[in-house]
Order: sequence, then C-alpha cells, then structure tokens
Amino acid sequence: MRRAKITVIGAGNVGATCAHWAAAKELGDIVLLDIVDGMPQGKGLDLRQASPIERFDSNIVGTNSYDDTAGSDVVIITSGIARKPGMSRDDLMSTNMKIVRSVTEEAMKVSPDAVYVLVSNPLDAMVQTAWKASGLPTNKIVGQAGILDTARYRAFISMELNCSVEDITAVLMGGHGDDMVPLPRYTSIGGIPVTELIPQDRLDAIVERTRKGGGEIVSLLKTGSAYYAPAAASVQMAEAIIKDKRRILPCAAYCDQEYGVGGYFVGVPCMLGKNGVEKVIELKLNDDERKLFQASVEHVKELVGWVEKNWQ
Ligand code: LAC
Repeated sequence: MRRAKITVIGAGNVGATCAHWAAAKELGDIVLLDIVDGMPQGKGLDLRQASPIERFDSNIVGTNSYDDTAGSDVVIITSGIARKPGMSRDDLMSTNMKIVRSVTEEAMKVSPDAVYVLVSNPLDAMVQTAWKASGLPTNKIVGQAGILDTARYRAFISMELNCSVEDITAVLMGGHGDDMVPLPRYTSIGGIPVTELIPQDRLDAIVERTRKGGGEIVSLLKTGSAYYAPAAASVQMAEAIIKDKRRILPCAAYCDQEYGVGGYFVGVPCMLGKNGVEKVIELKLNDDERKLFQASVEHVKELVGWVEKNWQ
C-alpha cells in the first residue's frame, strides 16, 4: 500500500513539531521544507534518528527544494513570522501574505491534488490568501485554528474541574482572533452540559482566557508563539484527511451561503475527510451567539479586504 505523503512547509517551531507529531502517529512519509539551508535537513535527520527509539516507520526528509514535495496528499503551511509580545496576529499581515502566497504557488506546481492546511497568521486571511494563490476548489483549502482554540478551552475546563480532557467536547466558531466565539451551549463533559458543572462567572473567565490564549503564550515565551498545541491541531486535521475519517472538527472553512458569511474562510464546525472539507455544519445559533459570530466575521472581512487591496 502506498504511504500517504505529508509536506510541512516552514521548519520552525510549529512546522518541526508538526513533523514530530505526524511521524509519531505514523501518518505517512514526511517532507519538511524551509528556505534556510541545512535547517530542515538537520531537523528531519534528527527526527528520523528518533524513530528506532520511538518505533515509528516514517521516512522523513528535510529539504529546500519543492521537487521533493511533489505528489503530496496533504500540505501543511506554517511559513511566516510569529508575533512577539505586544503584537496582534494582524500585525503579521503584510509579511506573511507575501510568504504564504509564494509558498502556495510553489507547492501547487508539484502537488495540485493535495489538501492544503493553513496555519500561518493572521489565520483566516492567510487561508484566503492561499486559496487565491492556488486556484483550488474551496473544499481543498482549510485553516487550522478552531481545534487549537477549542483545545485551549477544553484544557482550561479540565483544569477547573480536575477531570480528564478526554470527556470534554466543545464547539468554537469565528475567526482566530480575540473575538473568537466559544459556545458554552455546545460544551459538555461526559454528556453533561458545562453549565451544570461550572458556575457562570468561572465559565466566563474560562471563555475570556481562551480568547486570549495565544497572547498568553506569546507573553510568556517572549520570542515567539505557541507551537505544541498548534502543531497537534494541524496533525489532527491531516490525520482526518489522510484516513478519510470524516471527523467533525472546528476549522476555518469557506462559507458562502453558510451562516450568511458571503465568501470567506471562518471558523465553523465541519466534516474533514479525503476531499478536505466534506461539509460545513450549520448550527442554529441563538441571538447572542449570532451577534458574536457576526462581529468576528466582520473582523475577518476587514483583514481579507486588506489582502484584496494589496494583491498585485
Ligand atoms: C496561537 C497562535 C499561533 O493562537 O495563533 O497560539
């Protein structure tokens, strides 16, 4: 049987950690690409040498050449600069738009049939950038953010209740910014609504901490942003696609009629399978939830407006 081929573009903290999680799960053969000479090769070889210890059979190749990425099933794009303390994700826009556009164009020349998973920030605008640069159908491009944001929310709930993370399920919608919309109404612990287990004021505090979860890590690290959880989230998406699992996960997917968004990539629950986004799931939001979601979508539209204006 042919093994799946996963390309990770950008071999920084997020990219290298994606390669690590993907190898550990034996998702397939992995190509780690970066423009820095020697760095992806070194990280790839180091990871390959961990395989006899951790006992995974994945070929891992580090490279500077897109030729080595040809025929990938999934391409994870992590390229771009990360924010420093005091910066918002939006401050990365002009630099990362150029980078994401060019790496997408290069990757597309040799992997036109792949599903592309975007991780670079500002996430929602970078998914739109990659879509424009690729010419792919909308289902083949998807952004990672919702799984990460939901994982933060679930981690905080497990810390609050001192219970297993395994039983906590949640939905979170909107853009990957501080106006993201965690949905307590769709959050449960072992089937029990969260509102029955956590008092409202504590739940509000958890939602607020989730919204600012990325910034909390940036201010602790001081030199960059989170990478373990973002990488784990990206690899969960790759796994759902490669294994055609049809998992229901929150991702930045293209919504036109859906939720009345009108042609933007925003965080919504969707089904991920071999074709990428198999389906966007439309929840019946209540008035408060809809208002919060719309405010977050307006922010995404502003960022995408900037992409459109500066596209030459
Ligand atoms: C975060 C960044 C990576 O949320 O967007 O941690």
